[in-house]
Amino acid sequence: MSELETPPPAEGGRTHWNSRLGFILAAAGSAVGLGNIWKFPYITGENGGGLFVLIYLACIALVGLPIMIAEVFIGREAQRSPVGAFQALSKPRSPWAGIGWLGVLGAFVILSYYSVVAGWAMHYVWLSVTEGFSGKTPDEIGALFGSVAGSGSISTGWHVVFMGVTIAIVLGGIQKGIERGAKILMPALLGIMLLLFFYCMTLEGFGDAFRFVFSPHADKLTAGGALEALGHSFFTLSLGMGAMITYGSYLSKKADIVSTSITISILDTVVALLACMILFPIVFSVGGEPGEGPGLVFIALPVAFSQMAGGAFIGAAFFVLLVFAALSSSISLLEVASAYFIDERKWSRKKAVLFTGISILLLGIPSAWSQGNAENPDLPGASRLFGPSMKKLTEKVFGEGKGHDWLGLFDYLSSNWMLPIGGLGIALFVAWGVGGEARERGFKSGSKFASLYWGWVSLLRYIVPVAILAVILYKIGIFTPDAGK
Ligand code: PFF
Repeated sequence: MSELETPPPAEGGRTHWNSRLGFILAAAGSAVGLGNIWKFPYITGENGGGLFVLIYLACIALVGLPIMIAEVFIGREAQRSPVGAFQALSKPRSPWAGIGWLGVLGAFVILSYYSVVAGWAMHYVWLSVTEGFSGKTPDEIGALFGSVAGSGSISTGWHVVFMGVTIAIVLGGIQKGIERGAKILMPALLGIMLLLFFYCMTLEGFGDAFRFVFSPHADKLTAGGALEALGHSFFTLSLGMGAMITYGSYLSKKADIVSTSITISILDTVVALLACMILFPIVFSVGGEPGEGPGLVFIALPVAFSQMAGGAFIGAAFFVLLVFAALSSSISLLEVASAYFIDERKWSRKKAVLFTGISILLLGIPSAWSQGNAENPDLPGASRLFGPSMKKLTEKVFGEGKGHDWLGLFDYLSSNWMLPIGGLGIALFVAWGVGGEARERGFKSGSKFASLYWGWVSLLRYIVPVAILAVILYKIGIFTPDAGK
């Protein structure tokens, strides 16, 4: 039996991962998701590629990785889910527990809309297998996305299916549900990605795509774009809301947290770059535009699939990949919310998962009804309420033209506010709030990277808070590096 497969002993009756590999796959599964395959390529496209990617890599290494180690450390040390973990490592009723609460709230908010987007990916698997995209014009494919996302009933139907599968996996528990699911989903995902990548290497657009992603040209990048790279590093690594605290709490106290965190961050980054090297060659080969925005995956890609040989098969494989990636992330979101009720309220797993899962399902319904076309005179009342009316209402807060529909608002609040604030709190807590001795022992135990300890603490103390504060001030409009551009 290799070192990777040795089951750790259970401590204090808490269920632990069956193996180190199981933890790595589950945590990497949480990290790798819609953020990597849907969002990263389109924000890279919008920000002109090259330099944006370089800054993103720096954010992962200097901000994301130190926070990931901090989160896994908190979870493994406390052997409790976030709210209890902050209390256990400081004092009962300590205000630090607020960060844990923010995480539980974040899980509800993110999963409620994440599942709707994942549901669209499920519908696109269905479409690829049944009718395919060939024979459709680009306009028809654009209209198709509008009619899928814009239909409250189609979006709700797939949202219910996706939440149902997520609930079923999390009900199975840590080893038999989440770990087993990750062991199937992650290799399948990597396999499909590599196949698609090898296929894309044969396309004529591959060279252009490679230059676009990897040569550091600065033409389109703004300071706002650089800060977006930082914000995205939280979302993509599942940081700032306790997902890694929760998963870390199922680790044995002897587990090495530094090298596992490095492995998870590398896997997540490789998948994000692979996603670019799949999407952009396809888009460039058919003369498409990289800066297409959020429709890149659901519109530009099907347009490409409709024009290329074997497009039906490749299209189906791609959307299956997207669903798998979303599923391994959604199970971690549901686990964060459920673990609170299991650990702190002593509910059974079944009761906790069903309660949180069904609540999140209901909370997602307005998102599913929020993407209708405002110009459509027959738009159902619910779509009007959660779409255009919501946008108008939020314009009063965010300013003219900056309103959000329900789904957009939840995405905006979670990725721009909840995760960075949570990440800041976690960095400050580990840097200043926990005992130095426990922190040092935690970092060094079983790690070959013990000598990096002070580097890690310094990043948490100085670089991480400054970087996050810059993002927050930029969002509020106090820090305006792009003014006058
Ligand atoms: N990391 C996931 C992605 O990139 O799609 C999203 C996510 C999952 C964010 C879990 C936060 C989280 F706790």
